[in-house]
Amino acid sequence: MSIVETRVLLRHATDPKLATIDGYRSYGGYSTLEKAYGEMEPDTIVNELEESGLRGRGGAGFSMGKKVSFLPHGNQTKYLCCNADESEPGAFKDRELMQRNPHQLIEGIVIASYAAGISHAFIFIRGEYDVQADILDRAVAEAYEAGYLGRNILGSGHNLELVVHRGAGAYICGEETALLDALEGKRGNPRLKPPFPAVQGLYGGPTLINNVETLSNVSHIVANGADWFKSFGTEQSPGTKVVSISGGVRRPGNYEVELGVSLRDLIYGLAGGPLEGREVKAFYPGGSSSPVLTPAEMDLPYSFEAMAEAGSMLGSGSIIVADDSVSIPHMALRTARFYHHESCGKCTPCREGTNWTVKMLERVVRGEATPMDLDIITSVQGNIIGHCLCVLGDSMAMPVSAMVNKFRDEFEEVIARAAINGLPTTEGLESNGDGFEPGPDGVGLEVLQRERLMGRPVPESAQAAEELPRG
Ligand SMILES: Cc1cc2nc3c(=O)[nH]c(=O)nc-3n(C[C@H](O)[C@H](O)[C@H](O)COP(=O)(O)O)c2cc1C
Ligand code: SF4
Repeated sequence: MSIVETRVLLRHATDPKLATIDGYRSYGGYSTLEKAYGEMEPDTIVNELEESGLRGRGGAGFSMGKKVSFLPHGNQTKYLCCNADESEPGAFKDRELMQRNPHQLIEGIVIASYAAGISHAFIFIRGEYDVQADILDRAVAEAYEAGYLGRNILGSGHNLELVVHRGAGAYICGEETALLDALEGKRGNPRLKPPFPAVQGLYGGPTLINNVETLSNVSHIVANGADWFKSFGTEQSPGTKVVSISGGVRRPGNYEVELGVSLRDLIYGLAGGPLEGREVKAFYPGGSSSPVLTPAEMDLPYSFEAMAEAGSMLGSGSIIVADDSVSIPHMALRTARFYHHESCGKCTPCREGTNWTVKMLERVVRGEATPMDLDIITSVQGNIIGHCLCVLGDSMAMPVSAMVNKFRDEFEEVIARAAINGLPTTEGLESNGDGFEPGPDGVGLEVLQRERLMGRPVPESAQAAEELPRG
């Protein structure tokens, strides 16, 4: 399988000089910004972005150009917020983009701000990204010194102040309106929409919010034109995408590819496929909030539309592979626990639904549940999806539903085995946080898996559980 990357955003990324303004300029950096101020009207840039079909790379996949066009014209103060919160399990591409090429992002921010008449911009970066925040601070200082930020940029009359703001480490602050509250110094809770940020956002002013990768694309589109951008990818998903691949693969990492390549090319070709002796069992195609897919869907193209048609989503472009050593019920519990922990608690379906889902999945792995409980888990997810203030609740409900529906046999098997073995214990579940603790006689499900893996005989009590009638 010989797939190669198509590097646009990660081009020259292996050169450490790229993170400095001199290194960036040696590869032509900031020449597009000069072209934009010198030769292009703001509306021409907005049209080019819209025409390119660039879709947001932060999760929702909304047209970036359209979003810019929603900002009102006029002299009121307008804001840009670059979303660099990147806290979803499996996502780590913005980290690399900021670390290796901070000026590409800054150039995109300045051009987008010029196009939309924005005078104040922020990069909201998750607090744990300390190294990347330091790199950005240094790059922003260099850009000010070079006259690409500040007052009257390149004599154009356009002013732009750019601040790097470090978050305090809550996943919910990546939700665009919670991000605005957090930036304003409040607790990061999502706001009711409408009004949408383009109309009433930061400090009540019109605000453009875009992801790091989305904004990093801007200078390339303005430099090369919408048609060039559309020459990559598919009709509905143009361009390249930096895909983070992790989990049970030989070569985890970030890979930049044209949208529309097959999942097989990504998982087996670039990431090297599963580890020796293992097989792919399931994978999240778009971060931990996306409904899991199975090997039967491995030949689908990796695009926004194909993932939606398959009942999942491309999201932020993070593939997490679970091989056949992974227990899907435990993976569902681990996923639910994350969203329960990160729920801000503002709306009932999410606050209560994530809590109940965790409790029910704990009952499943403890052997206290019955197959009927699986129907209840599914129905609880149905009452969460589409009923929350933001999509954090759905982000748990969608993958959990998919796991119960697609791997119901395995859930029933776990219930049956754990009931026979009386394991794992409550203490085990609470002590390590993921329910992987063996019980008193040492025959938890994961112990069983480990024994098999090591080629050792499976304990008798576990064998008895396996012989239980199914269905
Ligand atoms: C709970 C939650 C967390 C999110 N986290 C992020 C994030 O870390 N980074 C991001 O770009 N978008 C995140 N989003 C999506 C943003 O709300 C928003 O759609 C995005 O920043 C818009 O940028 P884009 O159009 O360029 O994708 C999150 C959404 C939700 C509901
Ligand atoms: S869905 Fe969850 S995270 Fe979002 S507002 Fe409601 S309680 Fe908060």
